[in-house]
Amino acid sequence: MVDFTMQFPAGFLWGTATAAHQVEGGNTNNNWHAWEQAGRVYQRQTHGLACDWWNGRYEEDFDRAEALRNNAHRFSIEWSRIEPEEDRFDDRAIAHYADMIAALRARGLEPMVTLHHFTDPLWLSEQGGWLNPETPARFARFVRVVVEALGGDVRLWCTINEPMVYASQGYLLGRFPPGKRSVRAMFRVAEQLLRGHAAAYHAIKAVAPEAEVGFAKHQLSLRTPWPHALHAGALRLVRNTFNRAFVLALTTGELRLPMRRVEVPQARDTLDWIGLNYYYRFQVSFHPFYPHQVFLRQTPPRDGIRGPGDTGEIWPEGLLEQIKWLYKTTGKPLYVTENGVPDPDDAIRPLHMVRSLRSVWKAVMHSYPVRGYFYWTLVDNFEWAEGYDPRFRFGLYACDPVTQERTARPSATLYRDICAANALDSETIRRAIPAHEFDALFPGVEVQPRVTLLPREESQL
Ligand code: BGC
Repeated sequence: MVDFTMQFPAGFLWGTATAAHQVEGGNTNNNWHAWEQAGRVYQRQTHGLACDWWNGRYEEDFDRAEALRNNAHRFSIEWSRIEPEEDRFDDRAIAHYADMIAALRARGLEPMVTLHHFTDPLWLSEQGGWLNPETPARFARFVRVVVEALGGDVRLWCTINEPMVYASQGYLLGRFPPGKRSVRAMFRVAEQLLRGHAAAYHAIKAVAPEAEVGFAKHQLSLRTPWPHALHAGALRLVRNTFNRAFVLALTTGELRLPMRRVEVPQARDTLDWIGLNYYYRFQVSFHPFYPHQVFLRQTPPRDGIRGPGDTGEIWPEGLLEQIKWLYKTTGKPLYVTENGVPDPDDAIRPLHMVRSLRSVWKAVMHSYPVRGYFYWTLVDNFEWAEGYDPRFRFGLYACDPVTQERTARPSATLYRDICAANALDSETIRRAIPAHEFDALFPGVEVQPRVTLLPREESQL
């Protein structure tokens, strides 16, 4: 039996990620609240108390993050709290977030602050949301206020969470507000989010030149059901549009979408780092019966582990390929800003965590500059269109949104051991996953007992 340690670099950030609307509770002034009131969430649920962070329960959850031996936490600031009416800024809300940042720092947790995570103030959505040409500038104004107030204590800023998810879920698939189904609107929103990111980047740098600014990109692993030119074409369309166009625009200053090219020169070079949010693999095929979806069908592959509902295949190894592409394209350091699995019983989470972190470690080993990993998520929370559907529990801690009772899942211990050691070692892994899974993952001979960083040219990956 070979014992080994997959060591991560000194200073690697280990954390969890959350988003304001999913954990704060009582957000009644944003577009998601309106969407929930209209009965558009699973079983017509509303977010209610969520994890009760707005009432101060973040303190006890940050204690949990500290107990997990984390040294970072990614959270988001709710625009509708800071700017409840257009151009009126709420000092109490700003003070609340300053307290949160101080609470993180007091526990040795580096804050990574997201400025837009799916929600918009009601006043903004009433004016057309991100379809309104003024919105990028309004976003930058809000960002400036936030960075002026909090910039002294925050180094890592994440402008926008998953622009292509926001655009596609809200404007093509109709699952997020405003529930539109229009390819044109989706593309227009993607373009506006790109402008918003660029404006926010410049606003942050103007106030805090030392700040490190990036955004979080959701990437999908994709495959075709079998080799066929039509399926390959369908896959390319999804890959270029969903995975690649936005990222490429940040290096070229031009957003290239199918039948639409727009120059956004101010977006060029607006990245200090790039965040990868990674969850699923999908099978993409051309389908003549799907004209309303531009003849595309996206389904979970038949083999492999499937997530609940419409989610894809759980395939953690895809992380590596995404890290490689993002680095090759941007040349920037990376953070895994989200990675996790819906798993109420913790049946596959430990194995998923080990497989995911093995992929991240492989990237690190081959000198890809991955600087940190944020697990999604710390405590179960409000899962957007899925609400509190019991199948969609992503937390290291279970959380009952009514009683507010938290219970650690076994993978919390696994994550703690990994973070404490800054490494994935064979003993920890053996404790967390069944022996046959261990043997299948690590057939001994392939794993070197001592770690050496290989220069990138020698990469065999
Ligand atoms: C989002 C999170 C969400 C998670 C799990 C990500 O795409 O950024 O807000 O909870 O996926 O579905």
